[in-house]
Amino acid sequence: MQVWTVANQKGGVGKTTTAVSLGGLAAEQGQRVLLLDLDPHASMSTYFGVDTDTVAASSFTLFQQRKELTQPLVAGIIQSTAFENISLLPATTALATLERQAIGQDGMGLVVSRALTCVRDDYDLVVIDSPPLLGVLMINALAACQRLVVPVQTEFLALKGLERMVHTLAMISRSRKEPLAYTVVPTMFDRRTQASVSSLRVIRNTYVDHVWPSKIPVDTRFRDASRAGVPPHLFDPKSRGVEAYRSLLKWMLKSQVGEGSAPGS
Ligand SMILES: Nc1ncnc2c1ncn2[C@@H]1O[C@H](COP(=O)(O)OP(=O)(O)O)[C@@H](O)[C@H]1O
Ligand SMILES: [Mg+2]
Repeated sequence: MQVWTVANQKGGVGKTTTAVSLGGLAAEQGQRVLLLDLDPHASMSTYFGVDTDTVAASSFTLFQQRKELTQPLVAGIIQSTAFENISLLPATTALATLERQAIGQDGMGLVVSRALTCVRDDYDLVVIDSPPLLGVLMINALAACQRLVVPVQTEFLALKGLERMVHTLAMISRSRKEPLAYTVVPTMFDRRTQASVSSLRVIRNTYVDHVWPSKIPVDTRFRDASRAGVPPHLFDPKSRGVEAYRSLLKWMLKSQVGEGSAPGS
């Protein structure tokens, strides 16, 4: 099982869209995909029609039951979706209270990692949508994954957020056994605007070896797909945006790191 986390400390940069697109496209290839929502905004869960105020079991449950995590317990929280090979471990808005509750509690940083170990034979790929705040949820998301995808909007304000994210990463990598491989993914690129063109250049010059060499274009179909509650690759398989995520997935799979660093091991 591979675990990829999508994170950036800035909102609205395309995290959820990237998680749903990569997961959806991997599912299309026949991989058993689990989408794990760790964001209190719960947009990924809303995407799939979950009522995130009333959902009975969610990623919050993992933290509440962290001392009794077993395969049946974790599997019982996971929902199937209307889409083949795509399962969802939803979030709830109550996740927002976790940061306060986590203070001074032991063993809070590896909850997600341990939960995923319980279901490691059930899925080929897990994609975690992580919150924009650096806190216990993001720590969990970063500790559980083998790879990190950092979507960054191609505009100047977003570059500061990226800097902050990479700094956080360096800090967290020190407490891992191995450094965390990360890939910066330029998103919402609009070649007609100077801001997009020059910020893409800055991103490539600054994060040389960590940048996916292409970019995700601005594509209004993503918003339409999320409004319809359908993964982008099924909503409009030939759209420019989906084609771009297709090539990102291919690139990610080609440079996949070994299974040796599975979560919890
Ligand atoms: N490449 C894109 N082109 C146009 N709109 C996009 C693109 N990626 C995402 N969006 C839209 O931008 C908004 C924010 O994206 P989202 O993935 O929710 O970001 P985040 O999870 O980082 O907050 C959503 O309405 C989404 O549909
Ligand atoms: Mg989001």
